[in-house]
Amino acid sequence: MTPRTLPQALAVAALAVSLWAPPAHAADTLFADLGGLPVIRQTVHDFMANMLADARIRHTFDHSNLKRVEDMLVEQFCMLSGGPCTYTGDPMKEVHQGLKLTNADFNALVEDLQQAMDKNGIPFRTQNRLLALLAPMQRDTVTR
Ligand code: HEM
Repeated sequence: MTPRTLPQALAVAALAVSLWAPPAHAADTLFADLGGLPVIRQTVHDFMANMLADARIRHTFDHSNLKRVEDMLVEQFCMLSGGPCTYTGDPMKEVHQGLKLTNADFNALVEDLQQAMDKNGIPFRTQNRLLALLAPMQRDTVTR
């Protein structure tokens, strides 16, 4: 290789690498690690079923539109995890303030979600990344 072609060779190599490399954001989001929308939808479905079978908290849903809550949870988890969704529900504080929820209620919900994530094969570390995003919402949902 002559000195004149070396920069060209490097440029071709750099181009090849840039074409080969996946976009930085496509594969490294929590959304992708969760398994994308199909897994999020099934996990939220199982999560709702767990909560409705959970004697500690099922009464809180007595007057709720369950289909709407499930749809809003899917949007919220999808958006929070970096997926291509927009949450169209109401603010967390507004939604939960009338329910007078306790820390025990919150912990029960987290257990029901963990069980749903286990059932859907979501690895422990990935589960904890989602839970870490939900944790700050404790102060908006727990009011007593
Ligand atoms: C990180 C914590 C929580 C998140 C992210 C969350 C998320 C949501 C979402 C997205 C909705 C639907 C909002 C809408 O309709 O616009 C909702 C509604 C609801 N959530 Fe939560 N929630 C949390 C904690 C809790 C807890 C601890 C309970 C009870 C144990 C609970 C019980 C309910 C009930 C009963 C509704 C329906 C309210 C209604 O029908 O007006 N939530 N929640």
